[in-house]
Order: sequence, then structure tokens, then C-alpha cells
Amino acid sequence: MKKLLAMFLALTMTMSLAACGGTASVQSTETPAANVEEAATPAATPTKADDGKLVVGFAQIGQESGWRDAETNDIQWYAARNTDTLQLEFADAQQKQENQIKAIRNFIEMGVDVIAFPPVVETGWEAVLTECKEAGIPVILVDRGVDASCEDLYDCKIASDFIWEGEQAAKVMGDLLGGKGKIVELEGTVGASAATDRKTGFDDYMAANYPDVEILASQTGDFTRTLGKEVMESFLKTYGAEINGVYCHNDDMALGAIEAIKEAGFKPGEDIKIIGVDGVKGAFEAMVAGEMNCTVECNPCLANQIFETAAKLKAGESVEKWVVSIDGVYTSDQAADVIDSRTY
Ligand code: AHR
Repeated sequence: MKKLLAMFLALTMTMSLAACGGTASVQSTETPAANVEEAATPAATPTKADDGKLVVGFAQIGQESGWRDAETNDIQWYAARNTDTLQLEFADAQQKQENQIKAIRNFIEMGVDVIAFPPVVETGWEAVLTECKEAGIPVILVDRGVDASCEDLYDCKIASDFIWEGEQAAKVMGDLLGGKGKIVELEGTVGASAATDRKTGFDDYMAANYPDVEILASQTGDFTRTLGKEVMESFLKTYGAEINGVYCHNDDMALGAIEAIKEAGFKPGEDIKIIGVDGVKGAFEAMVAGEMNCTVECNPCLANQIFETAAKLKAGESVEKWVVSIDGVYTSDQAADVIDSRTY
């Protein structure tokens, strides 16, 4: 049954358009997206062929947001176009750190050349990263970070600057409110660097530059549209018309909040200003419709950098410790002009 599900997921993945500029539907790779229990089961562990290809094990968090699907598609699309030189081993951890750890241990057992993964939370990686080091397998952190205790246990991080993203969101929100108002905050996954740093960047910038903007409440929506909507509903029940703005740590939660705001009888984007992070197509559509005010971009199109860095690490070359993604800030007045050029 699990195998059938994995095959179905792989098939639907091949039917969707590749993200980040890809235009063709392609078979993902010789190792299509696996359900993590498959990836975590030693009996199902594939073997590494001795054919000189670069073998990269990627332990994805899951499918919590449109952004993450875009990242997955980008990685699988790239791998599918480079099967002559590259073998991708892909696991989907279904939002669980324990599953990411199991997948990484499987990759170690296989003897992959490089392991890459986005740490679902910042803490709890010392043991498995130490095992990677002892096995001599370089590690690339993708799109999220780990806490300082693991600084020497990975080789490279390819990710956006989340503090900067939070600061940009605060700057736009402060201006939209004319420096005065009350807002609520929808946080990402508890313990994820993307949530912690986006909060720090936003809250600190707001306190320092817009002291008359009050943050009424701040609660996690786990980066999902469903929880974003639920938490916004409860904010609206408690604070109602007091709320002038909502800052969401990702666009999926912003889209959920928009639904809640409409159902509560308010106009999103007008009565309640809305800012998200990611820059997904849905946010641009909402901005064109006048229901969202801004999205701070967070680039998910990292496949090129991941595999090029992996090749360098395999060759023993040195790489930068943190490759920072270049992101932009898009407000509703720009949305119609740029929406067609968005690739995810
Ligand atoms: O780590 C990046 C974040 O994770 C994205 O902003 C979010 O949408 C995702 O799921």
C-alpha cells in the first residue's frame, strides 16, 4: 500500500509543471519522491551504484506549503535533466524531524556523496550531523538553519536571510499603517529558523522604528494555509475590528488569513493590511485582487546552487559557509506588472 502511495506521489509529481522556470513535465529521477517510511526502512534502502555519478541524498521536510512544493519540484526537475551525471535520493519526512533523521541515516548507510536537507527545526541535530562527519559525508543545509552548537558539523548553508525578510515586512507594515495601529502575527513552525528569525527581524524593527504599532498577539500557524485560517479566526474572535494588520511568516498562512477575514465580514488588504513572506503565485494573485498588500520574497529555486555546491564538496573544494539568496520585496502596486514573470 505504501509502495502504491509512493508511486502515485511520484506520478503526480511528474505531471505537475516543474517550478522555477522549468517548462516541461518530466519523469522526476531514477529515485522518485519516496514516502519517508520507505526511506527510513533499511530493507528499502537503495544501493549506490559505482558509476561515477554525483549521488546526493535530500531529506525534504514535507509538503506544508506551496513554496516547499516549488522547492521540491525544482530539485527533482534539475535531477531529472541531469541523470547522466547525477543520482538524487529523495525522501519526504512528512513534517517530522525524526523522519528526517532516519532518512539521513539511510543516506549514510548507502554511502551517498553529499547529504542535503532543510532542518525542520533548529535544534536536535548534533548526533546525526556528527554521524555524517564521522562517515566523511559533507552536509549542505538548504533553506533553513540549525543552532550554533552545530556550526562545525555542516559544510554549507544555502538559504535566505530571514532576519532581513522580517525587517522588510515590518518596514512595509509600519508605512502602510502610517506608523500607528494594532497588528497580529501568524508565526511559522515552532522552533524553525524561518519562524524564529522572521519574528525577531519583524518585532525588533517594529519596536525600534514604529513604537506606536502594537503587536496584539502572535501565534503559530505552522506555515500551513489551514492553520493560518484557524488562528486568524480566533484572533478575529478576540480582537475583531481592533486589528489593523496581520504579518504572516509565509504566504500560505496569509492566504488562509484572507479567507478568515472575508468570512468575518472585513475587507482583506483594506480594513486589515496583510503581509506575507515567500512570493508564491497565490500571493501575487491576491495582491492583484486587492486582498493582500505585500509579499517578501524567499527564493525556493535552489537546485542549481545545491548540486553545484555538492559537486564541489565531492571534489574536495572549499565552499562558502552561507550562500545567501537574493530576495525582493513586492507590494500590491507592482503585482500586476510582475505576476506573469513569477516562476513559482
Ligand atoms: O524555510 C522556508 C519556509 O518554509 C518557507 O517560507 C515556508 O513557506 C516553508 O514552508
